[in-house]
Amino acid sequence: MVRNYDPDRPVPPHARDLILHNALHAPSAGFSQGWAFLVLERPADRERFWECTAETAADPDSWLRGMRTAPLLIVCLSHKDTYLERYALPDKGWTDRDEARWPVPYWDIDTGFAALLMMLTAVDEDLGACFFGIPAARVRAVLDEFGVPVGYTPIGVVSVGYAVPGRRSRSLKAGRRPVTDVIHMGHWGTHHVS
Ligand SMILES: Cc1cc2nc3c(=O)[nH]c(=O)nc-3n(C[C@H](O)[C@H](O)[C@H](O)COP(=O)(O)O)c2cc1C
Repeated sequence: MVRNYDPDRPVPPHARDLILHNALHAPSAGFSQGWAFLVLERPADRERFWECTAETAADPDSWLRGMRTAPLLIVCLSHKDTYLERYALPDKGWTDRDEARWPVPYWDIDTGFAALLMMLTAVDEDLGACFFGIPAARVRAVLDEFGVPVGYTPIGVVSVGYAVPGRRSRSLKAGRRPVTDVIHMGHWGTHHVS
């Protein structure tokens, strides 16, 4: 995750287009593709985003100062109703559109897959990227500001640009969790390295 960008180097249009193209090739349940992407590239549009989301606009913290240098922001939105409609079709047959049928919200997960493909494409193009969430209290303001129709949920934002050195996230101090804690071979609690 890159949180500081060269403000004078925009994302080349071909890289932006490839990032978006690859996002649309993410997997989705029933090929529902219940997602949408709000691309903010013009300085005025990015400024509108930060104005809506910044919790302390008057005194930005170092995270915000770094993130504001990103020349490209892509807000990733999921659309649950697309999934409920898709699965009501004859080949799936969930005509009751009952959300309880869904063990987890695949509309959010699939949109997250798309976000990850964007970040991997950014790396392929020698760019840096960061996925971050919009604070819950600011979501409504973002939807209103950009005229997003009812039914779309922003699951997060991908910032993209050329990386400049920045401080490592404090969260990384905890270290990566050991494989033995996370991977269970054949039965919970069993782990072997081959
Ligand atoms: C759901 C989710 C939300 C995140 N939100 C933020 C965020 O709000 N701000 C931020 O700087 N990074 C955010 N991150 C990035 C994580 O902090 C990052 O993946 C983690 O620190 C590991 O860093 P690395 O991917 O560079 O190894 C988020 C990541 C995920 C998956």
